[in-house]
Amino acid sequence: HQHEARVKNLVKIEIGRHIIEPWYFSPYPKEFSYTPVLYICEFCLRYWASETQFRRHRTKCTLRHPPGNEIYREKEISFFEIDGRRQKQWCRNLCLLSKCFLDHKTLYFDVDPFLFYCMVKRDQYGCHLVGYFSKEKECGEGYNVACILTLPQYQRHGYGRLLMEFSYELTKRENKVGSPEKPLSDLGLLGYKAYWKEIIVDFVLNIYRTGGKEADISVDEISQKTGILQTDVMTALHELQLLKWYKGQHVIVLGDEVLARHEKTVAKQRRRIDPTRLQWKPPV
Ligand code: COA
Ligand code: NA
Repeated sequence: HQHEARVKNLVKIEIGRHIIEPWYFSPYPKEFSYTPVLYICEFCLRYWASETQFRRHRTKCTLRHPPGNEIYREKEISFFEIDGRRQKQWCRNLCLLSKCFLDHKTLYFDVDPFLFYCMVKRDQYGCHLVGYFSKEKECGEGYNVACILTLPQYQRHGYGRLLMEFSYELTKRENKVGSPEKPLSDLGLLGYKAYWKEIIVDFVLNIYRTGGKEADISVDEISQKTGILQTDVMTALHELQLLKWYKGQHVIVLGDEVLARHEKTVAKQRRRIDPTRLQWKPPV
C-alpha cells in the first residue's frame, strides 16, 4: 500500500491568517482526508474538519507560543526549544503539518529522540510559527538538523537561511561541526548551498579585511569557525570555483565575480542571527 500512501490527501489547510495548499501526503487520520479545508490551530496545532468546532476551539485555546523555552529573541523574531518527549502531541502535530511539505519519509510519531527549534514572529496576538528544524538529541552521524521547514506562506523571504544560521550557532556552542541529515530535498539542497557559499565567502573576506592572506586559510579552519562540516565547505568552495593551485598547494582566491555576487546577497538580506541573543547551553 506504499503507493496509496503517497497520494496527496489534503486539499487546503487554514492556519492563522493563511490558507495554504499541501504539496505531499501527510498521515493525518483517515477521517480528515479530502475534507475541503483542514483547520489547524496555529498555536496548539490541533486540527479539525469542522469549521464550527474549530472556531469554538479558538475561543478557548489559551496557548500563544510553542510549548517550550524561549531561547532567542531579537526584534520580532524568537526561537523556542521544545522537547519531543515532554510535548509529544504538539510535536506530532508539528510533524504532521510539516510532512505536507516534505516528500521523503520521516518519523512522525516517535518524537521523543528530538528537540524542535521553532522560529516565530511575535505580535500583539502571540507568537506565529514561521518555521522550525528538528534535531536528534544524540546523533551518532553528526547531523545538526534532521528536518527543516519554512511554512510555505513565509518561503523565499530569508527565513530558511535564518533557521540554518541558528542551527549552526547551536553547533558552535556545542564546540562541534555539523551537517543536515541526508537525503536533502531539492529545496533543502538549494537553501544549504546558498547558505554555505555566503558564509564561506564572508569568512574569507573577513580574513582579508583583518590583513590575512589567502594561504593562511584552510578548509579545516573554515569548518571549525563556521560549524560547517568539512565536506560541505569543500562542496561550496568547488561550486564557487575558489580553489586555485598556487606554488604547489591549494589556495582560496576570491574573484571579482564572486565578490560582486556576495555583495548582492548581503545587500538584500533582511535579518541575521545575533549570537549574543542566544540564551542556551548544550543539553547535558
Ligand atoms: N528555488 C530556487 N532557489 C531557492 C528556492 C527555490 N524555490 N528556495 C530557496 N532557494 C535558495 C535561494 O538561493 C534562496 O536565496 P534567495 O531567495 O535570496 O534567492 C536561498 O535558498 C535561501 O532562501 P530562504 O528564503 O532563506 O529559504 P526559505 O525560507 O524559502 O526556506 C527551505 C528554504 C528549504 C527550508 C524551504 O524551501 C522548505 O521549507 N522546503 C520544504 C521542506 C524541505 O524540503 N526541507 C528540507 C529537507 S529536510
Ligand atoms: Na524564507
